[in-house]
Amino acid sequence: MIYFDNAATSFPKAPGVADAIARFIAEDAANPGRAGHRMAVRAEEMLDALRLKLARLFNVSKHNRIIFTLNGTDALNMGIKGLLGTSANDGHVPHVITTVLEHNSVSRPLQSLADRGVIELTRVECDDDGFVTPADIEAAIKPNTRLVIMTHASNVLGTVQDITAVGQLVRERDLLFFVDAAQTAGVVPIDIQAMNIDVLALPGHKSLLGPTGTGVLYVGERCPRPHLDHFNPWREGGTGGDSSTPTQPPIWPYYLEAGTPNTIGLAGLAAGVDYVIEQGIENICKHEQQMVAKIIDKFKNDERFTLYGTHDATKRVGTLSFNIAHYEPSDVGTILDDSFDIAVRPGLHCAPYTHKQIGTFPAGSIRISPGAFNTDEELDQLIDALDQIAG
Ligand SMILES: Cc1ncc(COP(=O)(O)O)c(C=O)c1O
Repeated sequence: MIYFDNAATSFPKAPGVADAIARFIAEDAANPGRAGHRMAVRAEEMLDALRLKLARLFNVSKHNRIIFTLNGTDALNMGIKGLLGTSANDGHVPHVITTVLEHNSVSRPLQSLADRGVIELTRVECDDDGFVTPADIEAAIKPNTRLVIMTHASNVLGTVQDITAVGQLVRERDLLFFVDAAQTAGVVPIDIQAMNIDVLALPGHKSLLGPTGTGVLYVGERCPRPHLDHFNPWREGGTGGDSSTPTQPPIWPYYLEAGTPNTIGLAGLAAGVDYVIEQGIENICKHEQQMVAKIIDKFKNDERFTLYGTHDATKRVGTLSFNIAHYEPSDVGTILDDSFDIAVRPGLHCAPYTHKQIGTFPAGSIRISPGAFNTDEELDQLIDALDQIAG
């Protein structure tokens, strides 16, 4: 199978990931931090080394603020509900700004908090090229605004957002900035200090090339803030270490990291992160952008195709959505799978507000997302298949 669905999860994984998992499960797979024996210590050391590696990658100064989660959704819920979910905010209803480009893993938890009257929510639109204008975020700020939460790149359009500009204006107003880096971590440089990011959520199984069942939440030291006065542990329970306290011990990362972690998956993620660092984030990004640029160049003036988002591939990650005239996106997906052995993702991509904005709701679009390991030959086969289907 030719795999062009890397925005959902990367495939194949980086060389070394399967071996790291096999080695860890055979030699070190004890429960970390729960016992003093040597195997438990080795498991804990592996987690700690990965925390340090990720801290360096994202320029985090305190690696104990990096929490391991089960996927991007888990990290986002832990962050959103940790900040907003259950705290008594002195009778204040905090206002939260988000965008139409969000995945349901952001928009659903926010909407359910808004429906319960816990927060007030504003959803900022994007322009025709698929970019949110930082000035529109600024214009949405109100006296009770506490948090801006947005994706670094749209998982439908692939457009990379100007989070540096947003981070700066959010910090100037003394608000919190929460970034969903699901589509960028491992493929676009992220510097939490230069970008003024307070909370960062990401999966380990996409461009960091690790296995499913892995994710990361970074919670910066500016959390909590006035009227967001607790960072609540969304998942409570066993932490190893200090078992005596009646509630979560206020020790990072254990405060948020209750339960036995997915050490086996995280051992694989460490190998994925090593590979990404070795290859260079910029080189992987360039490879994916070149693939998207070739498809855009081929079809942008072809009236059978409608391409969504900017035609400038340098402002994208390796993700492109389009439709073919007279075809349902789901039919194109099925034909590519059945007749050409090519995997893509048709539909709404868990981002209904984005599709409403670009006029493709409810059928959605066809999304292709090349990854680090796709070859030029595979790309040519995809282009040829699309041409045949449209023809
Ligand atoms: C922008 C964005 N946010 C969040 C998620 C959720 O991540 P996960 O699938 O790891 O739960 C995704 C997954 O596609 C995504 O693209």
